[in-house]
Amino acid sequence: MMIPRPLLFILLILAALSLLPMACVLKNWHDPAKTSPRIQINPDMDQQPKFKAQTANPFFADGRAMRVWPAGTVPRGQLRGDDRYYRGLEPDSTFTAVFPVPVSEELLARGRERYDIFCATCHGLGGAGDGVTHRRAEHLAQGTWIPPTDLASQTVVERSHGHLYNSIANGIRNMPAYGHQIPPADRWAIVAYVRALQRARNANLDDVPDEHRRALR
Ligand code: HEC
Repeated sequence: MMIPRPLLFILLILAALSLLPMACVLKNWHDPAKTSPRIQINPDMDQQPKFKAQTANPFFADGRAMRVWPAGTVPRGQLRGDDRYYRGLEPDSTFTAVFPVPVSEELLARGRERYDIFCATCHGLGGAGDGVTHRRAEHLAQGTWIPPTDLASQTVVERSHGHLYNSIANGIRNMPAYGHQIPPADRWAIVAYVRALQRARNANLDDVPDEHRRALR
């Protein structure tokens, strides 16, 4: 059945008119000059009575919407109360001589892996201070290079565990800090591995099991 032409015409006009209300709503939404609330067909979470980060809030004396933590606030799960573990310190603020985590083969393996990544570039794989960075600096001979300390030297052997931990976390003299890259558990793993390197590099014949001694002699 054919729809008569005039009727078709009227239907088309009606269809066009039916879009008008939606067009008005859309115009209302996108009018930047508007100050009154926009028409919300589905209010959902479009309008939230909140202040955004880095904005002003006249409610507070300092005019900032973002608030400073009250002094001493600690985020949940981030209380680092164990000074020995997190800072290598005893209650009297001296470096601890106690190794605060159990030493296991896994710990040493982890320490070796981390040492090879973070320390060996300067201190060398065996800790003698002959890493690639050092050798390169020697080659350039610019006169400004402070050589990395031999980690099996008497000074470092005599340093307490906490002292080594602190050197990794905060750096020492010309050595930069690695605390931002190496979390506490890995720092202790590295300290354990440095102890192993010292033991190995300062070993003598008495440390070798009997059955292997003859081969060495
Ligand atoms: C960018 C090179 C560099 C890297 C990487 C580096 N060190 Fe050092 N380290 C040095 C230098 C240089 C010194 C000597 C600093 C000085 O005497 O001023 C030093 C000194 C030390 C000392 C001796 C501090 C003392 O008690 O006198 C220790 C221990 C040490 N580093 C451990 C580490 C460990 C562990 C790592 C890996 C986490 C590491 N270093 C990574 C350059 C480096």
